[in-house]
Amino acid sequence: MTNLRPMKIAGIGYCVPKTVITNDDLKKLYETSDEWIYTRTGIKERRVVSGNETAIDLGLEAAQKALNKSGFEPKDIDCIISAASVPPQLYPTLSCTLQDKLGIPGQVPAFDLTAACTGLIYALQVARGFIGAGIYKTILIVASDNNSKITDWTDRGTSILFGDGAGAMIVTESDDGIDDVLSINISADGSIGQMIQTNMPGQCCPLVEPADEIGTGKIIMNGKDVYKFAVTTVPAYVEECISKSGMTSEEIDYLIPHQANQRIIEAIQNRLKYSDDKVISNIKYYGNTSAASIPIALVEGVEQGKIKLGSTAVLCGFGAGMTWGAAVVRLREGIC
Ligand code: UT7
Repeated sequence: MTNLRPMKIAGIGYCVPKTVITNDDLKKLYETSDEWIYTRTGIKERRVVSGNETAIDLGLEAAQKALNKSGFEPKDIDCIISAASVPPQLYPTLSCTLQDKLGIPGQVPAFDLTAACTGLIYALQVARGFIGAGIYKTILIVASDNNSKITDWTDRGTSILFGDGAGAMIVTESDDGIDDVLSINISADGSIGQMIQTNMPGQCCPLVEPADEIGTGKIIMNGKDVYKFAVTTVPAYVEECISKSGMTSEEIDYLIPHQANQRIIEAIQNRLKYSDDKVISNIKYYGNTSAASIPIALVEGVEQGKIKLGSTAVLCGFGAGMTWGAAVVRLREGIC
């Protein structure tokens, strides 16, 4: 870590669709109740795209806001990483489409990485490697997710959880020698990957033996196993990341976790012995927006006065793969 060039987080933005679906609205789809959903998850409502709106629109707005805050122009960006698990098209990738729409120069590399709800932390680690090694100087990270498009809206075990949204970050080589990433860890375990699956539709060539099953393209999840995985793996992992940062958990100002389930957030909070004012949770209003959930919670936390900038935070994510990750970061004044 120490021989990498220092990286600065220069700007962050987010965007959520306007359409709100409440727990009561879901009663039109299947038998459920606001009470059941809220007590088990902490969710009251979520935002979803409608009509022709896609992750491109959400990602574009989030990226423009992050650029504005950072003070950089599209011409200054020399790499784009999109952490979108549900882009509207497999190709052109979301990052390539955003390059065009934002007016970022044509020769700049743009690629998507898939790490589901851990996408933002994975992208941050990749960007850190590029900037740290001096390969690229200023990188746009976009985490824009459209879970509502791959949600099975007849499955009350999964469709209560997810929502749509986007977050974006501009990271750049630090001009004052201060590194805004104090520690970062990413991990994966494919042997438990079946806990959350989206099996793509698609058939074999008609001239060969057909496949036994054709994927539905919808999310299939074993909620109980995911829950157990999250509460047993993530809190200790976050603690480990904090100790790697050289700070103690008391010294860190905020916990900004992936918003998957309020009870999972509380398990991490309890492990760190944090009071409620140190923990940022907005799951009540947005549900699980996948890779976008951390930047949405961060910027909204600042807008609502829950987070004061000029502080430090521990971020953590987990999701399909299974993947998980954590980072201790500095939140400078003016980044959002
Ligand atoms: O980024 C990672 C994303 N994923 C997660 O974080 C998921 C983590 N897991 C969870 O949050 C929880 O497992 C859920 C909230 C998804 C489900 O809670 P649960 O306590 O594990 O419920 P369950 O699926 O075991 O279902 C318990 C009962 C069942 O009825 P029976 O079989 O006991 O009669 C379900 O049919 O609750 C029923 N049920 C519902 N009832 C009302 C399931 N979904 C609903 C619903 N409304 N929406």
